[in-house]
Amino acid sequence: MTIVAGIIRGETTFKKAIRSGGAALIAISDDDQWRIIALAEERSNGQKYASGYQSALQEVLTSADLSRTDIDTVAVSTCCEPTECATQGLTEFQSADLVAVGHHESHATIAFLGSGYDEALVAVSDGGGDVLDGYCGEEWWLHSREQLTFWHGTRSGGLELICRDFADPLAMGFGELYRAVSYFLGWPGSRHASKVMALAAYGERPAEWPPIFYIDGDGGLRSIIENHPDDPVNMIVKLGSDLGIDLGEPRQPKAEIFEVHRNLAALIQSELERAMALRLANLLKETGLQKVCLSGGVALNVVANGFIQKQLKVPVYVPPAPSDDGQPLGNALAVWWSRNRDLGSLKNFALTRSSDAALGPERNCNSATVSEGLAKSDLRSCTVFEYSSPAPVVARVLSAGSMVCVFQKRSEYGPRALGSRSILGDPRLEDGRALFNQVKGRDWFMPFAPSVGSDIGEIWFSDLADSPFMSFAVGFAPSQIEKVRAVSSNDGTGRVQTVDENDGSFIAEVVEKFYEITGVPMVLNTSFNAGGQPIVETVDDALQTFADLGVNILALGRFLIVKSLSPELIRAEVMPKQFFIDGAIVQNGRRLNLDLSKLTSRECIRTVQQRTGLVVFVRSELPLFADFLERLRKGKKATTIRYRKGAVELPSFKELPLYETPDYGVGDRSKVTAWVEITGIRYQVFGELTEQDAVVDGFDSLEDMRRELRTIYPKLHDDEWVTIYSIGLKQDLAKE
Ligand SMILES: [Fe+2]
Repeated sequence: MTIVAGIIRGETTFKKAIRSGGAALIAISDDDQWRIIALAEERSNGQKYASGYQSALQEVLTSADLSRTDIDTVAVSTCCEPTECATQGLTEFQSADLVAVGHHESHATIAFLGSGYDEALVAVSDGGGDVLDGYCGEEWWLHSREQLTFWHGTRSGGLELICRDFADPLAMGFGELYRAVSYFLGWPGSRHASKVMALAAYGERPAEWPPIFYIDGDGGLRSIIENHPDDPVNMIVKLGSDLGIDLGEPRQPKAEIFEVHRNLAALIQSELERAMALRLANLLKETGLQKVCLSGGVALNVVANGFIQKQLKVPVYVPPAPSDDGQPLGNALAVWWSRNRDLGSLKNFALTRSSDAALGPERNCNSATVSEGLAKSDLRSCTVFEYSSPAPVVARVLSAGSMVCVFQKRSEYGPRALGSRSILGDPRLEDGRALFNQVKGRDWFMPFAPSVGSDIGEIWFSDLADSPFMSFAVGFAPSQIEKVRAVSSNDGTGRVQTVDENDGSFIAEVVEKFYEITGVPMVLNTSFNAGGQPIVETVDDALQTFADLGVNILALGRFLIVKSLSPELIRAEVMPKQFFIDGAIVQNGRRLNLDLSKLTSRECIRTVQQRTGLVVFVRSELPLFADFLERLRKGKKATTIRYRKGAVELPSFKELPLYETPDYGVGDRSKVTAWVEITGIRYQVFGELTEQDAVVDGFDSLEDMRRELRTIYPKLHDDEWVTIYSIGLKQDLAKE
């Protein structure tokens, strides 16, 4: 096996922090199978924009069942200093090769290889990459460095640098301008650039405001002012005076946003779009290339990406992680590619569908992790509904106007939630944007993205193209905007995620089912995090954040976790109005009838919860081991006993589908073997089950039954509750 790990340093050699760290692993087996696991440091340690790689690297290694000594090569990048500084002083990987990768080369690599294109023009734009003149120190911006680079990528040959713009000392590129304007508008830090972009939709650039960027005699881009990242606010003050325009005073944080602020945002946005599109058009002409990849933090500007795509009229690709959180994978890919110019085992590597971005470690979501997690997160009063296919239920709940937090399998690499760690909503909600901004604690002008089925472009959008990673803002067809107010921005665009309906993902199924129900082929999709927090990564993170958010439902794996049993759940067929079954609690030999047949389903759930003090799981199907099914068929078995750690069960309906399983596992749930009627339900602690209970359950003796149940549920103790269903075969499909 060959293991290449990619990391980005947490700080430069002169101790400047490099934000947004993480780690990626490419593991190639001896028979040429490869797998990739990648994780941002912030997702791993819970600190937004966390630097470094230690925590993420440990997690990706554990997930792959590897340790540090298994790593053959560590591919590492840095920023704001010469490329070769990346490996300096890195002493912890003693058994591995250390290879430094250029900051922009890394951004370019993930974009070009991710695109799957054979040949393309690759543009990388960020706040700044590596220093080019050998200088290493705190005044890096006074030296030649990467800000906007263009590359000619060929799949078989690698990346060839075409040119660098804004590379001179003090040059101000797009990323630096956005950073400075963020400061001027009261949002200190380049991480707020998305706010400037969103605000631009509410402003208008006055016609008399002149350009900031121009093409020089060599064809490269230049700006009219110098970059002074140590004094960003005054840079913009100076920009106003140089342009001869009145930009007012810098906005104080949390102060009112005036028209001039909105117009400044619009000016910056339109300058980025105009200059970048012009430069790319010229380069496409010069090189004869016909496809474009965009990378670096500036490629998170979905409005500019949408504009560029529309202007250039060529395919444009943006990877799922274009900014620095994508450096670890970019680094690992770059080193592999430099050693295997034909890409070898990675020949079929591409990131072109939303589901391709799900590169996080596998997360286990079984009923034990759920009930234990609920107990830990103070969510014990939640009810858990279990499904073999929860997506249609989620679509029904969304169409009833509820929001749903979603946690499915592996997390997405990069800053966007694409359906694995999302909060979904109904795009038709009139006040949806305000509602969701309140839930997320975001500013009022921040828009929300629609996740859209891929085959509906022309009716709904004026210019839809592939956007699997929410990389492009595209125009809605004017006639449709009013129908999906919650996901249309003020400028009539949506930051679309196109979902391939054949990729088998949860989000694809939700969008499809929501379309069937409502006639609207999209759902609102925002990231599953609380304001200022990283997107949730683990089951525990998900439950904790769900507890803190004003959202009622969490779709976690095959489970739907519900805080409040609201009437919409009955309308959306999550639960019936009534269970219509007899219930009883048997304890210390005494039977307490629960009268569940007379209560509403909500009362049933709450009664069972209060009597047992446990989480209630509502089961919608019954897997059953083939041997037990035979006993049921022969009339030798009239009950089934179920155990979940820290939980008891109720059946969602009086009749449930039964799946035959070859072992004690969950088995294949795609084929219903039979329908069973639930005639009663009983709760009893395991240690109090009797000989009679064993015989009714199809065993010869209590001892046999106890042995068998302990094989199925090794953690089952005598003092723990089990749920005993009285069942009868209603319809045996295997016999028909
Ligand atoms: Fe960067």
